[in-house]
Amino acid sequence: MTDTTVIAAELRRLLGHAHAPFSGVQVAAAVEGADGSVCYGVNVENAAYPLGQCAEASAIGTAVTQGAAALRRVWVASSLPGLIWPCGGCRQKIFEFASPGCEVISVAANGDTDSRTIEELLPLGFRLDPAQVRRA
Ligand code: THU
Repeated sequence: MTDTTVIAAELRRLLGHAHAPFSGVQVAAAVEGADGSVCYGVNVENAAYPLGQCAEASAIGTAVTQGAAALRRVWVASSLPGLIWPCGGCRQKIFEFASPGCEVISVAANGDTDSRTIEELLPLGFRLDPAQVRRA
C-alpha cells in the first residue's frame, strides 16, 4: 500500500502538468485500485470552458483503462492554500468506481491531510444496476 506522503509528493510534482490557464487553479488526483496500483491525473481545461476535465476524472479514466477500478483510496491536491474536496460531479464519478468505504484524502500544500469516505461526501449516491436497465 503506497504511503500518502509518497503520493502527496507525486501530486505536488504533477500540479506542474495541469492545464489550467483559465482558472489558474492546478489540481492533481490519484486513485488506488483493488490491486494496489495507483493512477494519476490532472485537470485539463479548455478554451471552451465546459469541456474542461477535473483531475479526478483524468485519474479515473486512466484507472479504468488499466483495468484498475474498484477504488480503495482517492487523493486530491491543488495549488490553492489549504484542503480542497472533489466537486459534486467528481464525487459521483468516484462513487461509480469506489469500493464500499473508499477513502477520499485531501492533501494540502503544507502537508496537512484530512479524509472522508465517499459515502460521507456523497450520501445516497446514484447507482444503476445494468441488469435493471430496460433495453429497446
Ligand atoms: N477541479 C478539479 O480538477 N477537481 C475538482 O474536484 C474541483 C475543480 C478543477 C476544475 C478547474 O479546472 C479548476 O479546478 C478550477 O475550478
